[in-house]
Amino acid sequence: MKVLVIGGGGREHALAWKLAQSPRVQTVFVAPGNGGTAADPALRNVPFNGVDDIDALAGFAAAEKVALTVVGPEAPLAAGVVDAFRARGLRIFGPTRAAAQLESSKSFAKDFMQRHGIPTALYASFTDAAAAHAHVARHGAPIVVKADGLAAGKGVVVASTADEAHDAIDHMLATVGGRVVIEEFMDGEEASFIVVSDGKDVLALATSQDHKRVGEGDTGPNTGGMGAVSPAPVVSPEVHARVMREIVLPTIAGMARDGHPFTGFLYAGLMIDAQGRPRTVEFNARLGDPEAEVILMRLKSDLFELLMAATEGQLASVEPQWDRRVALGVVVAAHGYPASPRKGDAITALPAATAELQVFHAGTVLDGAVLRSSGGRVLCVTALADSVRQAQQQALAAVRQVQMDGAHWRNDIGHRAIKH
Ligand code: AMP
Ligand code: GLY
Repeated sequence: MKVLVIGGGGREHALAWKLAQSPRVQTVFVAPGNGGTAADPALRNVPFNGVDDIDALAGFAAAEKVALTVVGPEAPLAAGVVDAFRARGLRIFGPTRAAAQLESSKSFAKDFMQRHGIPTALYASFTDAAAAHAHVARHGAPIVVKADGLAAGKGVVVASTADEAHDAIDHMLATVGGRVVIEEFMDGEEASFIVVSDGKDVLALATSQDHKRVGEGDTGPNTGGMGAVSPAPVVSPEVHARVMREIVLPTIAGMARDGHPFTGFLYAGLMIDAQGRPRTVEFNARLGDPEAEVILMRLKSDLFELLMAATEGQLASVEPQWDRRVALGVVVAAHGYPASPRKGDAITALPAATAELQVFHAGTVLDGAVLRSSGGRVLCVTALADSVRQAQQQALAAVRQVQMDGAHWRNDIGHRAIKH
């Protein structure tokens, strides 16, 4: 069978790598893919020029008789790629445009959570600047200001002073426009809780935790994620059960009841307080990146079978097997990331893949025979080992072999998991 993965980051390299391991899969197309998927003989890059190109991609999938399409990033989901493929009778794993609003619209997500009693921070939504400023004046800091719409983590300011919050409101209404959401600040430890749903049944993937800040000790500006670890020890069996009962199952049931059954990967970004009470920071309608890399590194079962079962409404019959070891991924970022990543740096001396080490590519491109950087997050070097510390050491040893001008990474990925 032929499979198509939409996207071109580390998450999509990991999805394609895992799907290609299935004995039922003969070809994995990646649209548009990256330098890593281009270099892998098991994978084939195909052109995809973004959301305006969805119809052409559906045409390609139909012509090639692709058996299953898997969507990586949020943008095509928010643009309705699942609706477009399904309208042509093509099997695709992901949420419809309506269901993807759990990620694409913060106000949709917050209204949904409020209506269905799903624990999250108290919030209010504003289009009027004066009303937003008055709200901050009334509640004080710390307080969180978010732009409504897709801003890939950049549309969030966790303000420790009221002045910071006032500035954020003005800036967001002037640049992103439309609407700001102002939230209660939640204290605690974050974790990523990702499930597969067929619209009715739910299968929890291994837990994980990413590190969003660019600098060591979780300092500096937010990024897409500088590394991740799986499992996340903060999600104890008790917390896991609460997350399923209080967040995941009511969300899947609520979306179905509201007429938008959620099919696809549902990612609940959690804040877990000192008492082990989980609350939802945000929903994403997709796998996380770099969470996907560490989760898929630990998946022992056939991903193709799992996702086919999900698209057939047969999820209840699937029980995935996980490697008991720890997977830890360190992102190698380009010079200037996240503010202004430089592109075009040559990348050499990539460590060889083994059963315990994979170099997933993100922002890379093959320029003739030369591999070059083409984005902010360039590689995610992922290791599997018996302990967090060992996995961290092995990933870092491999990262240090990589030669790329201006490369930077964090040496402390997994520090919260080590502390537990
Ligand atoms: P988001 O894009 O909503 O995931 O927010 C990005 C990051 O901001 C999260 O991963 C948290 O670290 C932080 N954050 C967002 N909302 C809150 C909140 N209500 N309380 C505390 N931290 C938050
Ligand atoms: N690593 C966070 C995300 O994918 O949204």
